[in-house]
Amino acid sequence: MTESSASNRDTAVVVRDLVKSYGHATAVDGISFEIRRGETFALLGPNGAGKSTTIEILEGYRDRTSGEASVLGQDPRAAGRDWRARLGMVLQSSGESGNVTVREQLSHFARMYPHPRDVEETIAAVGLTEKASTRIKALSGGQRRRVDVALGVIGRPELLFLDEPTTGFDPEARREFWELIRSLKREGTTILLTTHYLDEAAQLGDRAGVIAGGRLIDIGAVDEIGGAAARTPLVRWSDASGRHEQRTETPTELVARLHAETGGELHGLEVVRPSLEDIYLGLVASAGSSDAVRTSASPEEVAA
Ligand SMILES: Nc1ncnc2c1ncn2[C@@H]1O[C@H](COP(=O)(O)OP(=O)(O)OP(=O)(O)O)[C@@H](O)[C@H]1O
Ligand SMILES: [Mg+2]
Repeated sequence: MTESSASNRDTAVVVRDLVKSYGHATAVDGISFEIRRGETFALLGPNGAGKSTTIEILEGYRDRTSGEASVLGQDPRAAGRDWRARLGMVLQSSGESGNVTVREQLSHFARMYPHPRDVEETIAAVGLTEKASTRIKALSGGQRRRVDVALGVIGRPELLFLDEPTTGFDPEARREFWELIRSLKREGTTILLTTHYLDEAAQLGDRAGVIAGGRLIDIGAVDEIGGAAARTPLVRWSDASGRHEQRTETPTELVARLHAETGGELHGLEVVRPSLEDIYLGLVASAGSSDAVRTSASPEEVAA
C-alpha cells in the first residue's frame, strides 16, 4: 500500500492482500478493498467466509498473518486509545448480560468518549425507552442486541463496524434500526456492515463486497454488483402448453407481444427483477463455496 492511499483523507479503510491463517487453515485468503469516508460498505458471504475475521483485524482485536490494513489512517495493529475512541463496534457475539440497567450501562460507556451521544436519545433510537431502567440480564435476546447497537453508536463514531447487528431483531425493530443507520449516514458516519439479510444490505449499503472461502468474489455498487446479465428481468407466464419463463431487458415488449398473440389475460404472469439476494446466491454458487465451513469463533478464540 502506498503512503498516499493509506493517508488519503477520503478513505476510511484500506485493506491490501489481507491474509489470516490458523495453522494450515486460511480464513482470509488475500482480500483487498477500500471504504470511502461516509460510505456504507456491506461485507456479504456465507457462514465461515471470513467476514468477522476481517472485521476483527480492522478493529485491532485480531492479528493478521500478512497483508496491509489502514483504518482511519492508522494500522490497527499499532493504534492506541485515541484511535479506538473514534470507532464504534457491534461485535457478532458480545451479548451484553450485566447486572446493571440499560441506562446505567450506556451512561457508563458514554463517559469514555469525548463527544458522546445523548443517552436518552440513544435509548429511544434503539426502541428501549420502556426498558431503560431494566437490568440487562432481564432483557430478551433481541432487546440485548439493541443494547449492543446502542453501545456501538453512543460514542458518536466516525467509523462504525456492525457485525450482523440485527440478528434476533423483530421486523419492526429492524426497520427502526435502518432508520437509525440512515440518520448516522446523514451525519457522515462511515459504516462497515455484515449481514445475512440481503434486503438489509440492499437498503443500507452503498457498495458491497461478497466473500466466500476467504476470497473476495465480487465488489461494487449495491445496485450493480453481479453484473448486468444477472439483473436481467425475468418474465413468467402459463398457457396450455405449460409454464414458461424468459429473461429479457424489454419485459413490457414481451408481455405486449404475448398479449397480442393470445388475445387474452396471461395466466400466472410475473415480471421479476432479481433481488440482491438472488444475485448474491448466484455469485456464491458460481464461486463453488456452498461447502464453506459452518462455524464462528468462540470468545476465547477471538482473543487469539
Ligand atoms: N480462532 C480461530 N481458530 C481457528 N479457526 C478460526 C478461528 N476463528 C475463525 N476461524 C475460522 O475462520 C473461518 C472464518 O470465520 P469467520 O468467523 O470470519 O466467518 P464469518 O464470515 O464471520 O461467518 P458467519 O457468517 O458464520 O459469522 C471459519 O472457517 C472459522 O472456523
Ligand atoms: Mg461472522
